[in-house]
Amino acid sequence: MDYDVVIIGGGAAGLFCAFMAGRRGRRVLVIEHANRVGKKILMSGGGRCNFTNLDVRPDRYLGANPHFCKSALARYKPEAFIALVDAHGIAWHEKELGQLFCDDSSKQIVQMLLTECAEAGVRIETSCSVQRVQPREPGFALNTSLGPVNAAKLVVASGGLSIPSMGATGYGYELARQFGHSIRPTRAGLVPLTLSGKPLEQWQDLSGLSLPVEAECEGTSFRNAMLVTHRGLSGPAMLQISSYWQPGQRLRINLMPDEDALAWLQAARRDRPQAELKTVLTPALPKRFAQRFCETQNLDARPLKQYRDADLQAIAAALHQWPVVPNGTEGYRTAEVTLGGVDTDELSSSTMESKRMPGLHFIGEVMDVTGWLGGYNFHWAWASAKAAADAC
Ligand code: FDA
Repeated sequence: MDYDVVIIGGGAAGLFCAFMAGRRGRRVLVIEHANRVGKKILMSGGGRCNFTNLDVRPDRYLGANPHFCKSALARYKPEAFIALVDAHGIAWHEKELGQLFCDDSSKQIVQMLLTECAEAGVRIETSCSVQRVQPREPGFALNTSLGPVNAAKLVVASGGLSIPSMGATGYGYELARQFGHSIRPTRAGLVPLTLSGKPLEQWQDLSGLSLPVEAECEGTSFRNAMLVTHRGLSGPAMLQISSYWQPGQRLRINLMPDEDALAWLQAARRDRPQAELKTVLTPALPKRFAQRFCETQNLDARPLKQYRDADLQAIAAALHQWPVVPNGTEGYRTAEVTLGGVDTDELSSSTMESKRMPGLHFIGEVMDVTGWLGGYNFHWAWASAKAAADAC
């Protein structure tokens, strides 16, 4: 079987690249080893797929080369994907911070990609594995569970390591190494952080409690909700900061990001001198959180009027810079993305083609480009796939 383009991986990037190349008249085969395509799309965005973000910008992406993503993002904008979604009659809404979600279901995005693939004559094979890839003149010879397949161009869209139960494998890295590529160290990103020992004991029974915070790590900060879990801390603010956190580093959490804590405490001491600290903190923090915060800071139950200015200053500092040292993350089991991957210095930023092996392309999460939470990762899948498809 001869194809112009063979794509390994039927996820977001692979399916998008497939129909874009198909529309250009290429004979395209998608090889997916799982029993169905687009599994991560189906589970994304709580079942509603946060498919792009109105504010896609290169500085919302992490990677060793922060400039790499610029060209592809400039050539495929959120408006283009929105137009596609609209053309398929999929209703959507902005949730917050430019994040666009389907009104109904992520299934609509998978169905849209499959419809486009069908119209572009793309062949999709699920439960299909690739045993061997060898260069040939021209292109590549693949041994697959379907039998031998020849490809003029080979696109690796096999994703990262996150959520192995959804079909994630390190195959893309293996293939990259086979052709002489380097892999930037991989780790789980957009992932809940875990606590251990005393901090875990102090907070875990508040599991399920959420509050707005600003989480900071080494100069990068995110303002959003933090969720206490039975293993540590999660919620959008913590997922975001997890991509910037390295083991051993201390996070600083601003528990009252919208208030001046010192002014708040001074006003409370003036207006309610007999009240206890945990009581006056309550409108600013959830009641149980405020109570636990006071316990962990060893702030005993005495009326506010007994606190000196220096005491209030220390408490305000602790509220604005609550120190947290995670002992790790929940890992690939629950991570939304994989940081690191195929080194982008060895790829063309305009075509995603290997500089080491002509005709070999890498797209989506397999490469060392990782977006923030909020639709940025799917947008990278679409934009990098389009860049490769235009060159195939
Ligand atoms: P993706 O993982 O989608 O696809 C790779 C495909 O390759 C899979 O189908 C896999 O089975 C297949 N494969 C792997 N090895 C293979 C092999 N050896 N042979 C053949 N096939 C192979 N992002 C976002 O922007 N908005 C959101 O709402 C969410 N939500 C979200 C929720 C959850 C729970 C997760 C885990 C992730 C998200 N993401 C997200 C991230 C987003 O899902 C991710 O960035 C994209 O799916 C990456 O697209 P790719 O096509 O690169 O990989």
